[in-house]
Amino acid sequence: MSNIKNIKNIKNMVVLGAQWGDEGKGKIVDFLTDKFDAVVRFQGGHNAGHTLVIGNKTTKLHLIPSGVLHPEIFNIIGNGVVLSPLALVDEIAGLEKEGVDVLSHLRISESCPLILPVHVALDHAREIKRGASKIGTTGRGIGPAYEDKVARRAIRALDLKNPGLFKNKLMELMDYHNFVLKNYFAQPEISVQEQYDAVMKAAEKFKHNLIDTTAFLYDLKAAGKSILFEGAQGALLDIDHGTYPYVTSSNTTAGGVATGSGMGPLNLEYVLAVSKAYTTRVGAGPFPTELFDDLGETIRAKGHEYGTTTGRPRRCGWLDLVALKRSIQLSSISGLVLTKLDVLDGLSTVKLCVGYELDGKIIHTVPADLDQFSQCKPVYETYPGWDKTEGVIALSELNQNALAYIKAIEKHVGVSVDIVSTGQERNQNIVLKEF
Ligand code: IMP
Repeated sequence: MSNIKNIKNIKNMVVLGAQWGDEGKGKIVDFLTDKFDAVVRFQGGHNAGHTLVIGNKTTKLHLIPSGVLHPEIFNIIGNGVVLSPLALVDEIAGLEKEGVDVLSHLRISESCPLILPVHVALDHAREIKRGASKIGTTGRGIGPAYEDKVARRAIRALDLKNPGLFKNKLMELMDYHNFVLKNYFAQPEISVQEQYDAVMKAAEKFKHNLIDTTAFLYDLKAAGKSILFEGAQGALLDIDHGTYPYVTSSNTTAGGVATGSGMGPLNLEYVLAVSKAYTTRVGAGPFPTELFDDLGETIRAKGHEYGTTTGRPRRCGWLDLVALKRSIQLSSISGLVLTKLDVLDGLSTVKLCVGYELDGKIIHTVPADLDQFSQCKPVYETYPGWDKTEGVIALSELNQNALAYIKAIEKHVGVSVDIVSTGQERNQNIVLKEF
C-alpha cells in the first residue's frame, strides 16, 4: 500500500464533488485536513452539509470549513461564499457548546455577499410559485443572495462594520424585495427593523474575523503554508455547467476556486474529485441512471442516503461515467476518490453507465437540453459483484472483482482513482496513489 506522505509536497489542493453533491467530500477533507495549514470554502453557503464526529457527538457543519476541529488550521470563508450571519452564529454556537474554539482560527472575506432573512423568504416564495417544476432548493436563500450579488445590489459582509451604511443599504434593498414579495409572490413583507436587529446582533460575534482573505491567502503562500480548497455541492450542480435550471447558484467546478477565493488558477496544483461508487441526487432534475426498484431502496438504506442539510431522501442509481467524464473535463481533475464502495457489497452484479441512448443513437456527452437529457437511456456495462470491501484498507486485501470495477472506471474516464473509501470511519480508505 502506498501512503499519502508525499502530500506534503503539494501546497495547494482542491477537493471537489464530481456528481450532484453528497459524494462524501467531508470525509475525504477530514482525512486530508491535517496535512494542510488552511482549509478554504470558495462557493455556496450553508446549503452544504458535512457531518463531523467530535468524541461521541455528531456535529453538522454547513458553512464553516472542515478544518475547524483542528486549532492549528486556519478556516477561511472566501469571497465566493454567500454568508448568512444568522446561520454562521448558530453554527459557531453549536461548536462552542462542544468546546470547540472557532473564532481564533476562522477568517471570513469581507467581500462575501450576505444572505438575509428576506433571501430565505424569496427562496420559499419562488419554489411555491414554480409549483410542480420547483428546483427542490435547500430553502436557505442561496439563489436569491447570488441574484443580488450579480444584480450589484447585495449587501456585503464589510457593510456590517458600518451600522448606518448597513441600515441604508438594507432599506433600499427591502424597498425592492418587499415590492416583489407582496405584489409578485403575494407573500408577507419582511420587516427591515427586525432584520437589522437580528443581523447586527449576529455580526457582533464575528465582525472582527472579517478580513481581506485574498491577502491572507497570499501571506500563507509566502510563508510556505499549504492550502486545501474545499468544494461544496458537485460539478453537475454548477450554475454554468450543471443540469440547468436544476442546479445551485454558484460555480462548483474548479474555476470557482480562483474567483471565489482570490487565488489565481496557476496556484492550484492538484484537483481531487470525489465520486461515489454509484450516483445520488437530491432535488429535482434529470438522472438517467436512477433506480426506481428495490435496489435503489437498498442503496439508499445501506448508504444512509438522506440529506445532511434537509433530511430529504436522495435519489439513487448506478455510477454514470458519461457525466463523471464531463465533470473531469470541467475541472481539470488530477485524480479521483471513489467513496462508499462498500455500499455495493453483496450485489451479484454491478453496472457502469458508459453511454446514453438518445433517439436511437448512442452518445457519450451530456445534452445541455434537459428534455433531451431526460430522454437519455443509460447504456450499461455489467461487472461481477463482490462480497465485502467494507473496512478494507490494504489494496492487497481488496476483492479482485471490486478492483476490476475500479479499473474499468479508470479506463473509461481516463483519470486514476487515487483513494477508495470503504467505510464511514475516517481511516477506512485504500490509498492507491501517492500524490
Ligand atoms: P440551493 O443550492 O439551495 O439553491 O439548491 C439548488 C439545488 O442544489 C437543489 O437541487 C439542491 O438539492 C441542490 N443542493 C444544494 N446543496 C446541496 C448539497 O450540499 N448536496 C446536494 N445537493 C445540494
